[in-house]
Amino acid sequence: MGEVDRRGLLAGSAALAVAVGAKAVVAAPQGGGFLWGTSGAAYQIEGGNYASDIWALEHITPKLFAEPSGDADDVYNRFDEDLALAAGLGFNAHRLSIEWARIEPEPGQVSQAALAYYRRVLETCRRRGLAPVVTYNHYTVPRWFAAAGGFETRDGIEPFVRYCDLVTRHMGDLIEVAATFNEPNVNALLSWTPMIQQMQPMIAGFRHAAAAALGAPHWSSPMLGDFRVQQPIMIEAHARAYDAIKAASGGRFPVGVTLSLNDDQPAGADSGIETKRAQVLTPWLQAPGDMVGVQNYTRSQIGPTADLPPEPGAELTQMGYPFAPHALEAVIRLVASRTKRPIYVTENGVATEDDSRRIAFIREAVGGVQRCIADGIEVRSYLHWSLLDNWEWTNGYKPKFGLIAVDRTTFKRTPKPSAAYFGRIARTGRVA
Ligand code: BGC
Repeated sequence: MGEVDRRGLLAGSAALAVAVGAKAVVAAPQGGGFLWGTSGAAYQIEGGNYASDIWALEHITPKLFAEPSGDADDVYNRFDEDLALAAGLGFNAHRLSIEWARIEPEPGQVSQAALAYYRRVLETCRRRGLAPVVTYNHYTVPRWFAAAGGFETRDGIEPFVRYCDLVTRHMGDLIEVAATFNEPNVNALLSWTPMIQQMQPMIAGFRHAAAAALGAPHWSSPMLGDFRVQQPIMIEAHARAYDAIKAASGGRFPVGVTLSLNDDQPAGADSGIETKRAQVLTPWLQAPGDMVGVQNYTRSQIGPTADLPPEPGAELTQMGYPFAPHALEAVIRLVASRTKRPIYVTENGVATEDDSRRIAFIREAVGGVQRCIADGIEVRSYLHWSLLDNWEWTNGYKPKFGLIAVDRTTFKRTPKPSAAYFGRIARTGRVA
């Protein structure tokens, strides 16, 4: 299929905004067309998320992060400019996350200003014709939540559900699609990489150091959590949050989780591929959900208990894994073979200084999405990671995932050729 129909979506969006008093009330999604746009996460772009767990971890010794997030891209102050850029490129959707620590900086203390802020962000998306795809939790949690044991204790479930309910009541009328968690399977996925396996003692040491430095008996940041303990609790938290969001929104928009998935292939007859899938995929397909968010960056060969290193000579991205734009198609087909739920590609991208490789990556990846759709698989979005170069967690600002470069001192935005290239695909639905 060469063309993805955007007309349905445009007609749908036109029916969306009805002004009631100061608030724009948004009707149910109109069953419109394909969502094209970019994906991002509050912590990596907003800057100054002082009340979040990762901010605290960035400022202790030993150091786990290449550099602190600091002002990030100052999106907190510049969201209007960024959304204008995204809309100007031709996108019709925008994925963002809400920073729980801004909404609830201390347990039970809700910031009305932060709720109003995110409502303004979502209203701006709508005004600019960008359907908001909202993640309630993209890895980071309030510091107090990590200090109380995070999602490694069942006590973490209730506060998360209350937060999801609160956000939905304040801005659910503006949301198009939602995920409770971003990549709640990522620790399970990473537990297969040899580097992370070797780093386990170091990570355990870092967790102890964090607890001591931050005065908490058991500091548990979800990013550093033990997936064997954390995953069952997060599944329960997701299921409860799913019900809360559906109830508070009157079921107006689809809710699910987004999953980190590599295109895994078995290396030999004793490959652990099915064990890995039973850890990273199956439990989340069994959890409640109206959709599956698929996030893919690469491929891997699976040995008996670990991913194998990339083969010699493979082109590697700045993240050190193989450049593999075809992996997305394989992952979509895998998910579609295991669930009837619609698939949203909520992240896909490449870290590179060579923007021509990003263009090649987008061309191949989107071509794969279109082949899946042509074969009757219900794929409803392609959201590229990311609009802006941003803070890539432990790697700091070095990896460049953005369609738009950001000057680290002036914050000036400079679109790269890939921005225009992907914008053209979004406007026409055609891969050039
Ligand atoms: C995460 C993002 C991250 C991106 C690129 C995804 O797994 O959701 O937060 O920046 O990958 O590494």
